[in-house]
Amino acid sequence: MPERTAIYVDGLHVNFSGFSAITNLSLEIFYGQVRAIIGPNGAGKTTFLDVLTGKTRPTRGEVFLDKSTDLGRRDEAWIARRGISRKFQKPSVFDALSIAQNLELAIRRGRGYGAMLRSWLRADERERVAAVMRRIGLEAVPNELAGTLSHGQKQWLEIGMMLVADPKVLLLDEPVAGMSEHETERTAELIRSLQSPERAVVVIEHDMEFVERIADLVTVLHEGRILGEGSMHAIRQDPRVIEVYLGR
Ligand SMILES: Nc1ncnc2c1ncn2[C@@H]1O[C@H](COP(=O)(O)OP(=O)(O)OP(=O)(O)O)[C@@H](O)[C@H]1O
Ligand SMILES: [Mg+2]
Repeated sequence: MPERTAIYVDGLHVNFSGFSAITNLSLEIFYGQVRAIIGPNGAGKTTFLDVLTGKTRPTRGEVFLDKSTDLGRRDEAWIARRGISRKFQKPSVFDALSIAQNLELAIRRGRGYGAMLRSWLRADERERVAAVMRRIGLEAVPNELAGTLSHGQKQWLEIGMMLVADPKVLLLDEPVAGMSEHETERTAELIRSLQSPERAVVVIEHDMEFVERIADLVTVLHEGRILGEGSMHAIRQDPRVIEVYLGR
C-alpha cells in the first residue's frame, strides 16, 4: 500500500532574533506510522512541534497537513480543530477530578461551542470515554482522583485526554521522561497500540531503547538540520549520528 502523507514540510526555517533554530528542514510523516525525532539538546525538536501546532510561525518554508492544508499561517486553536493534538512534557491533568471526569472534560472541550456547556454525555461519548480508559489501562479505577496517580499514570491519562478527540496527528514530547522502567514499557505498548491507518504519531525522546521499540522511522536532528533518517537499527550505525549524539 502506498504511504499517505500526514505532515509535509519543505524548506522550513525558524529564526529567533537572528538565531537559526531550524534550518532548511524538509520531511514527510506518514499515516499508519510512529515517527521518532531524536537528537541532542537544542537540536530544534520541540521547536518543530511548536511549528506544527501553530505556536511558532515558520520564518520561511512550507508546512502542510494532508498535503493540502497549509498550517504556516494558522493559529493554535485552528490547527487543533484540524486534528493535530500535542502533549507537552509536563502532565497537565486536573488533580482534583477523577480519571473519568478528566476524560469527560476533554470530550466536552472538543465539542463545538454550543455543546461544550452541555453537561451530559451522549451514549456514544460515554462509550468513547470507556474505550479510552481501557486503552490507557485505567479502566479498573475510573473514580480515582488524578492527583493520586503515579507520574506514569498521569501521562497515560493525558494521552487519553488527547485520544477522546480521535486526532489524526498525535505529537508527544518526551513521553517517558521521569518514568520507571515498568511504566516506560507500558507506554511503549500504549504508543504502539495507537498506530492506525488514519493516524500519524510523532514522538520526541532521548531514551533510545524506547525509541527502538516504538518507531517505524527515526529522524535525527542536530543544530536545526536533519542529520539522518531511517530505521533505529540503521541510525545506530550512522557514524555522524554516533559522533554528535549516540556516542556521548
Ligand atoms: N522562543 C524562543 N526564542 C529564542 N530561542 C529559542 C526559542 N525556542 C527555542 N529556542 C532555541 O532554539 C534551539 C532549539 O530549541 P528546542 O527547544 O527546539 O530544542 P530541543 O531539540 O527540543 O532540545 P531538548 O532536547 O533540550 O528539549 C535552542 O537553542 C533554544 O534555545
Ligand atoms: Mg525539547
